[in-house]
Amino acid sequence: MAQELLKVENLSKIFLLSKNLLGKKEILKAVDQVSFSLDQGETLGIVGESGSGKSTLARCIMGLYPDVEGHIYFDGQDINALSPKNLHSLRPRMQMVFQDPYSSLNPRFTAGAIILESLRNLKKGKKEDQVEKVKETMELCGLSPDFYQRYPYEFSGGQRQRISIARALVTEPDLVILDEPTSALDVSIQAQIIDLLKKLQKDLGLTYIFISHDLAVVANLCHQVAVMEKGQLVETGDLENLFQNPKKDYTKRLLGAIPIDHPSKRKNSSICTKASQI
Ligand SMILES: Nc1ncnc2c1ncn2[C@@H]1O[C@H](COP(=O)(O)OP(=O)(O)OP(=O)(O)O)[C@@H](O)[C@H]1O
Ligand SMILES: [Mg+2]
Repeated sequence: MAQELLKVENLSKIFLLSKNLLGKKEILKAVDQVSFSLDQGETLGIVGESGSGKSTLARCIMGLYPDVEGHIYFDGQDINALSPKNLHSLRPRMQMVFQDPYSSLNPRFTAGAIILESLRNLKKGKKEDQVEKVKETMELCGLSPDFYQRYPYEFSGGQRQRISIARALVTEPDLVILDEPTSALDVSIQAQIIDLLKKLQKDLGLTYIFISHDLAVVANLCHQVAVMEKGQLVETGDLENLFQNPKKDYTKRLLGAIPIDHPSKRKNSSICTKASQI
């Protein structure tokens, strides 16, 4: 039986916003009582319109915000209850690829140094071994180790995203949260990155949370899908079921937004089939 890797229970994050025109401070529930679980080796797609809370949810799971309500269990351990030392040793097992490959890479560091930084934070092993590990991971992600000394501006968008993926994978994580990893890329490069992610999952047994507003890409990669609206998960289920029998109007609207190559093909064709052809 598949083993549960991540369980999220009633997770909420409230932001205190700047004063409005009337001088009143307002609050925003960006994530509102979210619960789900994810098995080892599976991919959960999180979809929803812009501003629905997808990135905030990811950042909450990664422990990047203070004052998050609820519980996160990783490999059976309640993250909130861990000592700082145990939390530090668990961190490398959860990694995130950020939404924007341009701003998430430090322009003053070379590609190699950016990836190496993840290992240096762990303070494990000798520098030569760490550099070797970085080069191996670059190759794994389809980047030549000869690019070690190149700066982010010397790479294409797709290559930059490969650097972000290598930075996440170098610590040998179990869970990788991918926040719109392909949205800044053109369609052919998107397909290459999706193929890379699929191969890495198969070879390394990775578990993914894949955030996207692009349901065609989600259909291609995910086993489970959760639909997010105004901070809440309004519908969850396995891919085929959710795509073929969406219950909520919101999900139907999102599904209706999938591009189809020709209007004559719209009738009688299943969304999953259409999406996998894209
Ligand atoms: N640090 C912050 N302070 C205040 N409000 C924030 C902050 N970060 C996000 N928000 C708000 O929280 C809501 C959810 O934002 P979030 O970035 O999670 O959305 P998203 O679903 O990832 O959107 P997109 O698809 O555009 O990336 C938005 O209304 C956003 O304005
Ligand atoms: Mg986002």
